[in-house]
Amino acid sequence: MSEISRFGISLPADLVGKFDKLIGKKGYTTRSKAIGDLIRQELIKVEWTEGGEIAGVVTMIYDHHKNDLLNKTTVIQHDFQDVIISTQHIHLDHHNCLEIIAVKGSPDKAQELLDGLRSLKGVKHATLSMSSTGKEVG
Ligand code: NI
Repeated sequence: MSEISRFGISLPADLVGKFDKLIGKKGYTTRSKAIGDLIRQELIKVEWTEGGEIAGVVTMIYDHHKNDLLNKTTVIQHDFQDVIISTQHIHLDHHNCLEIIAVKGSPDKAQELLDGLRSLKGVKHATLSMSSTGKEVG
């Protein structure tokens, strides 16, 4: 962990009141942790837009009986071996599968992977959780 730096912030009192209420609901016990997380969230957005090395997770729900989806999603994933570091397949019920794909590397590749999977006919939901390798966010 890097050295701690202290600084004062001047904000309208009603904004601070709303912030305290919000972070209280979210379970934060200090403003420092909550503000640090907001800053990290912005830094992660920059990592994703500037094309550095990112980490994240693609989640996808589909019916494996439909449209040869089990095969099609596998074919796409084989084309993205440079960004996929792990895949987990969970059989939710008789029809529905949940796939969790951990990614690390190029943000453009991760987005391309999501787009490729999400656009397949029969994929019910696919989303990308944009996170960080942790190296650039303190
Ligand atoms: Ni399944």
